Amino acid sequence: MKILVTGASGFIGSHTVLVLLEAGHEVVGVDNLTNSSRESLRRVESLTHRRVRFIEADIRDRAAMADVMKASSDRPFDAVMHLAGLKAVSESTQQPLTYYENNLDGTLALLNVMQSADIRRIIFSSSATVYGDPVAVPIPETAPVGQPAHPYGYTKLMIERVLCDLASADPRWSVALLRYFNPVGAHPSGQIGEDPSGTPNNLVPFISQVAVGRRDALTLYGDDYPTSDGTGVRDYIHVMDLARGHLAALDYLAGHDVTGSRIWNLGTGRGYSVREVVAAFEKAAERTIPVRVAPRRPGDIAACYADPTLAQAQLGWRPEYKLDAMMRDAWNWQRQNPAGYSD
Ligand code: NAD
Ligand code: WQD
Repeated sequence: MKILVTGASGFIGSHTVLVLLEAGHEVVGVDNLTNSSRESLRRVESLTHRRVRFIEADIRDRAAMADVMKASSDRPFDAVMHLAGLKAVSESTQQPLTYYENNLDGTLALLNVMQSADIRRIIFSSSATVYGDPVAVPIPETAPVGQPAHPYGYTKLMIERVLCDLASADPRWSVALLRYFNPVGAHPSGQIGEDPSGTPNNLVPFISQVAVGRRDALTLYGDDYPTSDGTGVRDYIHVMDLARGHLAALDYLAGHDVTGSRIWNLGTGRGYSVREVVAAFEKAAERTIPVRVAPRRPGDIAACYADPTLAQAQLGWRPEYKLDAMMRDAWNWQRQNPAGYSD
């Protein structure tokens, strides 16, 4: 199939492009490079020995996106994987307009352009953040949504709503909402991985930068949660498993001629505490990670992990990587690229 990937040069986008190429699909990638580097897809090309057509464009730019569709009119896209978006939780609370504008306007522009080009199959990067503070764990797709703790989470929820409304109004649309849990790790080669700009917001990139000597110590936000060791519990999923989840969703939508919308949790179903993650990383990197305990981070919850049985049953998708392998690959990437893609 021919697939348009937005946010293609980002962390999850680059791994997803790699998996699509390896499965024999043709890929066009779009990204405005606000949070990524052109280098990631060059490395994907050298890992796969395949070409990726990359177009630097902002998805809010309708004229540019219409050109992307037109340039492909010889063979239209079979589907769009829509990963482009801003994702820093704390920044979204400081700059809500920027987040609503980028994520919502960007998606609305993309959907309009898709509709005009008669392309109505879309796989969207949603997030477990739409569940807010879950009423119970593990979280099935049927759990209530509606109380994310920040504007970033609301952009995901609003986009989910737009996509569901679209699919209800016009049955030619075929929509997959993939709710990712906590993506970590990197391609096992260590050639592509997560390269946050500025101070990492997320746990594993922060630990990685401590391990490689870019930061002194991990600030552990809260050890008084009602969990086994008092630290927050999350469902970490290897980015390669997540990328394969996109392929499985694509095959399902196309293979079953799905109309309407579907929702799948992409998580492992297993939660690990911050201390367990630190211990697994220390083992992988064979070094100690200094930890400073601090108060809870505002908006954080005690525990969040998926009930992934729907994705497993319907998509035949099952995560393969365990926590140790996630940390091994996160470290392998950081060790080889201490300053990320700018090395
Ligand atoms: P990322 O920042 O590495 O990738 C997102 C990409 O989108 C970046 O390359 C950025 O330059 C690009 N982008 C942003 N706004 C754009 C615009 N207007 N036009 C074109 N390109 C634009 O982040 P990621 O971790 O790879 O996340 C990919 C998607 O998955 C995002 O939508 C994110 O919200 C979602 N998600 C991520 C996580 C996570 O923890 N990483 C969890 C759940 C959901
Ligand atoms: C994990 C655990 C922290 C950093 C966020 C978004 C979510 C999704 C994934 C996009 C928590 C603790 C963290 C640190 C720490 N993103 N921690 N010190 O908060 O589960 O989810 O990223 O959709 O929407 O909210 O992930 O990696 O930030 O935190 O102690 O420096 O690690 O308190 O318990 P989170 P995280």
